[in-house]
Amino acid sequence: MKTALGDIEIVSHLGADERTLAFDVLDGLTKPFKEIPPKHFYDTEGSRLFEAITKLPEYYPTRTERAILAANADALVESTGMAELVELGSGVPTKTLVLLDAMRDAGTLDRYVPFDVSEVVLTESAKMLVERYAGLRVYGIVGDFERHLSALPPAEGPRVIVFLGGTIGNFPPGARRRFLRTLHDALGEDGYLLLGTDLVKDPAVLEAAYDDAQGVTAEFNRNVLHVLNRELGADFDPAAFEHVAFYDRDHEWIEMRLRARSRQVVRIAGLDLTVRFAAREEMRTEISAKFTPRRLEADLRAGGLRTVERWTDPDGLFAVTLAARHGG
Ligand code: SAH
Ligand code: AVI
Repeated sequence: MKTALGDIEIVSHLGADERTLAFDVLDGLTKPFKEIPPKHFYDTEGSRLFEAITKLPEYYPTRTERAILAANADALVESTGMAELVELGSGVPTKTLVLLDAMRDAGTLDRYVPFDVSEVVLTESAKMLVERYAGLRVYGIVGDFERHLSALPPAEGPRVIVFLGGTIGNFPPGARRRFLRTLHDALGEDGYLLLGTDLVKDPAVLEAAYDDAQGVTAEFNRNVLHVLNRELGADFDPAAFEHVAFYDRDHEWIEMRLRARSRQVVRIAGLDLTVRFAAREEMRTEISAKFTPRRLEADLRAGGLRTVERWTDPDGLFAVTLAARHGG
């Protein structure tokens, strides 16, 4: 696709035969402890709800990460010479503007490569960005970054892969390290990774961030049931499930669950499956890991990466790490 405003090309790797949701739901809802992976939150409504979460007073990660980026973007662009910004889980790229502005001001900005499962959000963002930055080329990839990372085009200039928002924390520990290893391979010899991670802190602050007073996070959580109803012909009654969010101190992660208010029998026509929930039975919908510097280092090392620089906010809430290949 080309627009009169600049270059936009969008490639989709989520074909008509895409059965990931079906397989994930079949696997997840037939386990002894039911679960659904968090990537299925993000249909158009889920992306909208996440945007609303980022503006909540309790949800500090987005504004904190934005402030860290704003304070350090110029130095980052100068030290990496970045001309190409690849963004995984780009969503609505509000914070990314801070980086793109710094690239434009330094005269390096050439190409933006957003990668997201949500096609609507990705297309809207691409249009917004080519209007804002004269001459910017956008190569958007609609896909699952756990499965389609090989769809990244070859670098056409100094490249930084950015993975913001703490989304790396939504992987369980083993998958997280495997994913970092895949990123290591995708970086090439001289690419950089810019990684946003939420940090371990007072559990009360964490739990408030995932159980806000206005109930937006609860709606976001229940939205996955609407996705299953629409995409798989399920008959979940979302109101029959309550939002649960708690900090697991042993694993150092927030866990979100949906708890059946009463006994539920759910038919999922698209899977020819009937699923039963006992009263108060819980289903896991997300983990969101919180990091200590030590754990972050261990994970990066396991992925073959080394820290070049790390920035945090004055209160130590969030960290942004610039990493490169070991020996690179
Ligand atoms: N980067 C933004 C958005 C974070 S929300 C920020 O920091 O605020 C997480 C984003 O990752 C959503 O846009 C969601 O659609 C996307 N996402 C989640 N799992 C994904 C996956 N497996 N593959 C590609 N995108 C994914
Ligand atoms: C996208 N991800 C990093 C968010 C998080 O904080 O784990 C998703 C989210 N879940 C509830 N609130 C926000």
